[in-house]
Amino acid sequence: MAPSVPHSSSVPLLTSEANEKYANVNWEELGFSLIPTDYMYMSKCKQGESFSEGEIVPYGDIPISPCAGILNYGQGLFEGLKAYRTEDGRITLFRPDQNAFRMQTGADRLCMTSPSSDQFVQAVKKTVLANKKWVPPPGKGSLYIRPLLIGTGAVLGIASAPEYTFLMYVSPVGNYHTASSGLNLIVDHTYRRAHTGGTGGVKSCTNYSPVVKPLFEAKSSGFSDILFLDAATGRNIEEVSTCNIFITKGNIVSTPPTSGTILPGITRKSISELARDIGYQVQERDVSVEELLEAEEVFCTGTAMVVKAVETVTFHDKKIKYRTGEEALSTKLHLMLTNIQMGIVEDKKSWMVEINGCDE
Ligand code: COI
Repeated sequence: MAPSVPHSSSVPLLTSEANEKYANVNWEELGFSLIPTDYMYMSKCKQGESFSEGEIVPYGDIPISPCAGILNYGQGLFEGLKAYRTEDGRITLFRPDQNAFRMQTGADRLCMTSPSSDQFVQAVKKTVLANKKWVPPPGKGSLYIRPLLIGTGAVLGIASAPEYTFLMYVSPVGNYHTASSGLNLIVDHTYRRAHTGGTGGVKSCTNYSPVVKPLFEAKSSGFSDILFLDAATGRNIEEVSTCNIFITKGNIVSTPPTSGTILPGITRKSISELARDIGYQVQERDVSVEELLEAEEVFCTGTAMVVKAVETVTFHDKKIKYRTGEEALSTKLHLMLTNIQMGIVEDKKSWMVEINGCDE
């Protein structure tokens, strides 16, 4: 019979002594791949009921019905946020309420019950605290938190699952793209990421696996990532495979609007605010490929990606090079954001949420 709590994953854990400050991880070599930690969070709820307080359980595989909504019909959402260790020993989260809200919006679209904002934020705090020693030392990376809301009840005909699981695991991470240079994007001509009325504007699991093939093809041709165009006209830029995109020209910073086909990124929103703070005019509007090709600077934003400059964009036989490096706005915005996240400058916007009980 399946155990009631998740059993250990087949991947060996890297933990050692129970009361050590840090787990046994090579912090100098963090990338963006899973390092399993000690604990995860789980909570279940039946359709029509509400989530109650979940529990912290050992990290590991979960038993799931072969007929689960997530396995059969992709009824699932994920989130991504990060915890940081500051120089003065605090552990903080970046805007977790925003992820809670986005999960609620997605749950509504996919007909699932979602945890309340308070339940979401409390669950994040508990999960991070349980895995405190996996939060990298200051400046070495962050603890990536991956909340999932999935239909785990059995459902054969197409319908919402009768049970949902709210689950959360974590992994220490470094940079998403390891190259120190900017991204080399290719504009996609074949695939479309999202359609009006679809799920592009929520963080549905089903938005991401279709991106793998175009991304693989782009990488096989030597590009670092792929830029998708809008499905309706094929004339406007939308999203890179896992992040939002901005262009700059003069004092104007433009990014495609979140009108249903683009994920409302939390880093996107924060970077727009920071750019406005330093005098840029930020426009959320359709951005044509022609404007992209004429931009001075292009950059991407996302939780995993943070802020990453785009060095080149390839569109058919044109390859455009953009400003990057010290002079680039993206460099400045990256520094402004990460200084807030890492507690290096005062958080005047109250974006950071401190996790209590972290004193050494
Ligand atoms: C994130 O930036 O957190 C994302 O959701 C992208 C993910 C596919 C790594």
